[in-house]
Amino acid sequence: MNLNRVPPAPPDAILGLTEAFKKDPRPEKINLGVGVFMDDTGRTPVLPTVKQAEEDLAREETSKSYLPIAGLPAFGERVADLVFGAGHEVVRSGRVRMAQSPGGTGALRIGAEFLRKFLPSSKAWLSAPTWPNHKGVFSAAGLPVADYPYYDPASRSLAFGKMAEALDSVPENDVVVLHVCCHNPTGADLSADQWREAAAIAARRRWIPFFDFAYQGFGAGLEADRAGLLPFLQAGLPVLVAASFSKNFGLYNERTGALALVAPDAAEAAAWLSHVQVLVRVLYSNPPAHGAAIAARILGDPLARADWEREVDAMRGRMVSIRDALVNGLRARGAPVDFSFIHAQRGMFSFSGLSDAQVAFLREKKAIYMVGGGRINVAGITTRNLDYLCDSVVEALRAAP
Ligand SMILES: Cc1ncc(COP(=O)(O)O)c(C=O)c1O
Repeated sequence: MNLNRVPPAPPDAILGLTEAFKKDPRPEKINLGVGVFMDDTGRTPVLPTVKQAEEDLAREETSKSYLPIAGLPAFGERVADLVFGAGHEVVRSGRVRMAQSPGGTGALRIGAEFLRKFLPSSKAWLSAPTWPNHKGVFSAAGLPVADYPYYDPASRSLAFGKMAEALDSVPENDVVVLHVCCHNPTGADLSADQWREAAAIAARRRWIPFFDFAYQGFGAGLEADRAGLLPFLQAGLPVLVAASFSKNFGLYNERTGALALVAPDAAEAAAWLSHVQVLVRVLYSNPPAHGAAIAARILGDPLARADWEREVDAMRGRMVSIRDALVNGLRARGAPVDFSFIHAQRGMFSFSGLSDAQVAFLREKKAIYMVGGGRINVAGITTRNLDYLCDSVVEALRAAP
């Protein structure tokens, strides 16, 4: 190979869809493919608390000097409290150390690089299906990837029995990637009992849980959404968490996230962080400041924080009510499929159960864009486009059964 005839890389499945959507001239078009929250006017807003924090920062900022390699210390402390719960044993004991990262993706990558360095013969186990970038990130870090069963398309629900069976044969020191809440792309999450069972399996088989926490607050609430982590922490297991503030703070393009390393004791946690710092130094040297400064400010100010919690609750509330409106709208039109399973899904995404032919029909004939496999971003539905969407889905179900 040389640089004379470099073939173009395949387009990113989801970002490519957005490009096609932007070029579509049909005014009735709807984008249910992209993974960002939209309000009822179809915009991805800057949260009012974020705007206020930015104004305060602009006034008070005195330097743009580099952050430490592990990021803004106040951000790390407040994020540890948000992710694990203020006063949790892992925080008090110093068993957790934080590295600020460029988004949740950055956290996944530096976590994967760290694991690869110390567990060079381990695999990363991903849910089938999962966010497509997981495969890319873990492979790029040099960890071969494998799948564990997660979702049963026939019953349109979590396949927990099969998942547990597969996790029970994952070898010691392999890495299992788990979505803490609002599983992307299915919207199907584990119950509290199922999380306890998964943690018991991890403790028995001694695999390493790596949690992707991209949607804290979008499932059942900021506190309730961390429930999946707790039995793993209680079992004293080593745990990695990739937290993202793209969605719950709406800080998508500020690249704001954190890797949490939970080690068996404080000294070990400090040693793990020292290696992550070495990895960060050669990847991007140190993280960007703006988004983290905003999040740290909001999380550290009781009034701003209360406002932000209400903003998160409102985003979640919109997604719950739009799910209801979608299910009711389809039922009212006599859809030949019962879509009530959509009520039980959580977060921004729903597996609609639409076939590839129906997805293609909706895109070609109706200018409605969704990812192959029928994943829809429910936040792309608004009171203005709901009727057109329901009419079109019913038409697609009849035209391409
Ligand atoms: C499951 C999952 N993990 C991680 C991410 C990455 O988030 P970020 O934009 O913060 O890198 C996303 C974003 O869509 C996601 O859905």
